[in-house]
Amino acid sequence: MEAKDFVALDKKHVWHHLTQHKVYENADPVIFVEGKGPRLTDINGKQYLDCVSGGVWTVNVGYGCEEIVDRLAEQLKKFNYFSNANGNIPTILFSDKLISKMPGLNRVYLNNSGSEANEKAYKIVRQISHLKHGGKKGKILFRDRDYHGTTITCLSSCGQFERRNQYGPFTPGFVEFPDCSAYRHGLDNNPDAGKIFAKQLEEVILREDPDTVGGVIIEPITAGGGVIVPPDGYLEEVGRICKKYGILLIIDEVVCGVGRTGKWFGYQHWNVQPDIVTMAKGVASGYAAISCTVTTEDVFQDFVNDPSDRDAYFRDISTFGGCTAGPAAGLANIEYIEKHNILDNVVEVGAYLMDGLNALKDKYQIIGDVRGKGLFAGFELVKDRATREPADESVAAAVVGHCMKNGVIIGRTARSFRELNNTVCLAPALISTKGDMDELLRALDAALASL
Ligand SMILES: Cc1ncc(COP(=O)(O)O)c(C=O)c1O
Repeated sequence: MEAKDFVALDKKHVWHHLTQHKVYENADPVIFVEGKGPRLTDINGKQYLDCVSGGVWTVNVGYGCEEIVDRLAEQLKKFNYFSNANGNIPTILFSDKLISKMPGLNRVYLNNSGSEANEKAYKIVRQISHLKHGGKKGKILFRDRDYHGTTITCLSSCGQFERRNQYGPFTPGFVEFPDCSAYRHGLDNNPDAGKIFAKQLEEVILREDPDTVGGVIIEPITAGGGVIVPPDGYLEEVGRICKKYGILLIIDEVVCGVGRTGKWFGYQHWNVQPDIVTMAKGVASGYAAISCTVTTEDVFQDFVNDPSDRDAYFRDISTFGGCTAGPAAGLANIEYIEKHNILDNVVEVGAYLMDGLNALKDKYQIIGDVRGKGLFAGFELVKDRATREPADESVAAAVVGHCMKNGVIIGRTARSFRELNNTVCLAPALISTKGDMDELLRALDAALASL
């Protein structure tokens, strides 16, 4: 078959994610066929530098990583699956390794997507409410601009309101609290910004009645909602408030987890101790599907009860949480990051990228704010630097389109909000070099100059 035959079959049978297929009446989908390191080749032989790690920040160690593939193949040849109601060696070794990176946490529950990892966290909160609080403490608070997944219940806790359109009615018991974007709220030069935003969470808890609130979920850095790094002090305060009211703190590390920000987990940049941490995307860098819901021993012990009680254990299963491929690839991925000192690379190359983005901000008035941590960065496009009025989403789309034409793949906040789809998002592979970042910065420069 030739390239045009694959394109024709794609157009005939494949339903692409997040895509209005009407566009394919006048254009062809891009079909990737090969990857090596941070680079991709499409079916027509065009080469790209992928600065979004597989589109959605997943292929953290890059494509074609033989050290992971070989170990995965070895495991699959030996033993591929049995339900996780029983044990298997890759799950044991992976869990032990993962916990060694997460002081204060102790139990690993395996699933196969970020949404599912968060659903499990919600079920844990709800069941603890029944086991310990007479079913009263079941509300879960989520933050404006955060995203936690695609299922109806994850959308019920979604702070990107355009994503919810036409998918209701939603699961009850989820309540929103304000976001912590210092730039958008004019607090970027206020040293108390972290405290001010955390206080807004406390106000919502008090309004709802703390005895009815069982969990708070947040992303350590709001990812798809605009790469919002919280002000210093914020997460510490959120942790303190949750403890004060006996509320479980769930940190959604689906994007930041396993190295993206230069530490193993995003929350580890601050002094906060979560009760539950969820993760997916970068856990196995996309070499196998895996997600984890990790808890403290205290949370786990709430489910260790008299076996004659028919309800008092976690009555949950994830079929593909029993695949050995996920933990085998996850373990190989973490060991690859350790062996090649990749976290150090993330810090060094990430700082280089930030310097380059700030230089672009000096050059182009349209960039209102640059932010990020490690190899996770974003910049907001504005109509006017003084008023900070957001640029139309078509402007970010034009920047992304220009870079794509020049063989550099970048991302943007897409149809998440009515008026704030103005952030360009960058999440290059964690193995990227300064040379790769020069190439990215040159593409961005050309795209911004073309506006
Ligand atoms: C922060 C966050 N949480 C959860 C999810 C959902 O993960 P999945 O698509 O694997 O269900 C995503 C996906 O983008 C995410 O960005």
